[in-house]
Amino acid sequence: AVNTGLLPPADRAMVKPIVLGFSQLGSESTWREANTASIREAAGEAGITLILKNAEQDQQQQFDAIRGFIRSDVDVIAIAPVVQTGWEPILLEIRQAGIPVIIVDRSVNVENSSLYVTFIGSDFYEEGVKAAKYVIDKMRHHSEAIHIAELQGTVGSTPSIDRGRGFRKMLGDKQNLRITMTAPADFTQSGGREVMKTFLQQPKEKWPRVLFAHNDDMAIGAVEAMKEAGIVPGSDIIIVSVDGTRRAFEQMAAGSINAVVECNPMLGPLLMQAVKEIMAGRTLPKRMVTPEDIYTQELAGREIENRKY
Ligand code: AHR
Repeated sequence: AVNTGLLPPADRAMVKPIVLGFSQLGSESTWREANTASIREAAGEAGITLILKNAEQDQQQQFDAIRGFIRSDVDVIAIAPVVQTGWEPILLEIRQAGIPVIIVDRSVNVENSSLYVTFIGSDFYEEGVKAAKYVIDKMRHHSEAIHIAELQGTVGSTPSIDRGRGFRKMLGDKQNLRITMTAPADFTQSGGREVMKTFLQQPKEKWPRVLFAHNDDMAIGAVEAMKEAGIVPGSDIIIVSVDGTRRAFEQMAAGSINAVVECNPMLGPLLMQAVKEIMAGRTLPKRMVTPEDIYTQELAGREIENRKY
């Protein structure tokens, strides 16, 4: 018989589909919804059976979901961790069960990195650096003190920690650019709106000239709060945020947001490819970083159509 490389139909029917247990951290933002959709769609296209549990931003719920995956004896476990600490014990439990682990989107702080196979996601530190570079360039003709407000994401999460670090590192010792207000707003639009409102309760002379929001949803919430306070966002306050949602591009095109650093949520195809490689016994790079850009108002109008979420 000719060897086609394909299994005979009877044998093919006996090959069980790969089962992937995925602990998604929540549904806090537009980015997260797109990430979940990307993973669902890619699993369908790859013929992988996906068991997805949403932890609603609660690490304990992630642990519960993961223990459920172990009991169900899934083939691979993927985790998008809400915060970066506290993972070692549960990763040891998974190792004892002999199930390979893929970390997705946010990282885990573990001493023993052999507890997971690979980490797929963005370079959040670099995103913070890009945001600061934009601010430095935008403010290059100003020698007076520039107050910067920062809306952080979820406390203890990698994107919030690393974007903040990268931003500060890039500002370096620039004397006139100072972060004068900073607070977490949990990556949500409502959080961004509420925290921005509290920033604007300060006397006017303390109001920021620049806002760095760790994601688009919080920036959009902050734009609402600014408008309510009679401030013209994008002009009275320069706004830079992270993600690249279509709504943020619309706000850029309308002049309310000045720049958006891209963070790519479409991790589904790469994740499914990694699952298949692991099941085929191949080795993977320890870190897979998604290529990303920065967009400014000049390009926003043209790019809106290309935004996938
Ligand atoms: O971990 C990625 C971040 O989480 C995205 O920037 C944000 O929108 C999401 O909530």
